[in-house]
Amino acid sequence: MKKILITGGAGFIGSHVVRRFVKRYPQYHIFNLDALTYAGNLENIKDIENESNYTFVKGDITDEVFIADLFATHDFDGVVHLAAESHVDRSIVDPLAFVKTNVFGTMILLNAAKKQWQGNFEGKRFYHISTDEVYGTLGAEGLFTETTPYDPNSPYSASKASSDHFVRAYGETYGLPYVLTNCSNNYGPFHFPEKLIPLFINNIINNKPLPVYGDGKYTRDWLFVEDHAVAIDLVFHEGKNHDTYNIGGFNEWQNIDLVKLLCQIMDTKLGREKGTSEQLITYVKDRPGHDLRYAIDATKINKELGWQPSVTFEQGLEKTIDWYLANTAWLENVTSGAYASYYEKQYTN
Ligand code: NAD
Ligand code: TYD
Repeated sequence: MKKILITGGAGFIGSHVVRRFVKRYPQYHIFNLDALTYAGNLENIKDIENESNYTFVKGDITDEVFIADLFATHDFDGVVHLAAESHVDRSIVDPLAFVKTNVFGTMILLNAAKKQWQGNFEGKRFYHISTDEVYGTLGAEGLFTETTPYDPNSPYSASKASSDHFVRAYGETYGLPYVLTNCSNNYGPFHFPEKLIPLFINNIINNKPLPVYGDGKYTRDWLFVEDHAVAIDLVFHEGKNHDTYNIGGFNEWQNIDLVKLLCQIMDTKLGREKGTSEQLITYVKDRPGHDLRYAIDATKINKELGWQPSVTFEQGLEKTIDWYLANTAWLENVTSGAYASYYEKQYTN
């Protein structure tokens, strides 16, 4: 039986990846390592917690001794590394936390894998999950390809870029078998309501202002999270060693257009009069260093591995909204406690 370590599996994307691997691969034992920070929540993977090929391990990827012990005990065959600090706004307030988890934590995992596997890389794989934000910003034209130079603008994207470079360096220097993907903005169930789509769904439910940064003309390329999990599965199993793939939704939206679409669907779902939720839109001060536009050219993963998104944005958004409306207890749970003080600091003034 293969032993696979997935890090960050109690977070948004990680929970979908863990669920998919546990259900699809009974021949694997999946170890989900997560520190359960504010973004990690065992409720996200409650449905699979009793599966016989699944073990949850609470721990911090920056704890060198703990990670070395974990690798020595289990001798993992593969690592799918998602654990990270993931929110740009938080990185602006506390950049060092991002260096610690995203750069230092990734280094600790790389060292542990290298030590464990050295001399016998056969059948081993270190898969690092990254973001399109490492490429910086696009103007009105063009797409990010796998050869676009890195040009990160936020402390978050700089920390992810740095960790990507270390993964490549371990591949070149020590022969560590790795694969790396850079994905566009995800959305879907279990998304923590600090990011645009779940934050705005939660605020619409609660009749709170919808804080649109700047003029709202920033563009993101949105991908349904389950389609990202499918791509991760494919790349882990069939991606070329020492290679990188871009993953995206072929789905660009200016924030303000997305927010208006969200408002329309929410009005229908909540039985509110047309135009009600749009009245909540409030333009607020811009994010410093705000990247204008992200858009992915996902031709390589499509041509080489046959991957493409399975749902349209309208379908994915509807599934997402339905999930949040059916899971208000989850929303209330994650927005109690520390969330209120985060929200106040981020959105006052
Ligand atoms: P998330 O913030 O929802 O989840 C991160 C998880 O990592 C949480 O469960 C948290 O508890 C855990 N974690 C944080 N620090 C840890 C530590 N020191 N040790 C162990 N666990 C720790 O993030 P997400 O949106 O699911 O993103 C997952 C990965 O995908 C990240 O690497 C992110 O950079 C990347 N990514 C995200 C997106 C997106 O749109 N969300 C897009 C592309 C790439
Ligand atoms: P976000 O979900 O934080 O993802 P990222 O910054 O990683 O792309 O933000 C998506 C877009 O929405 C981005 O252009 C910033 C904008 N935004 C707002 O206008 N208001 C908000 O309250 C948030 C959280 C984001």
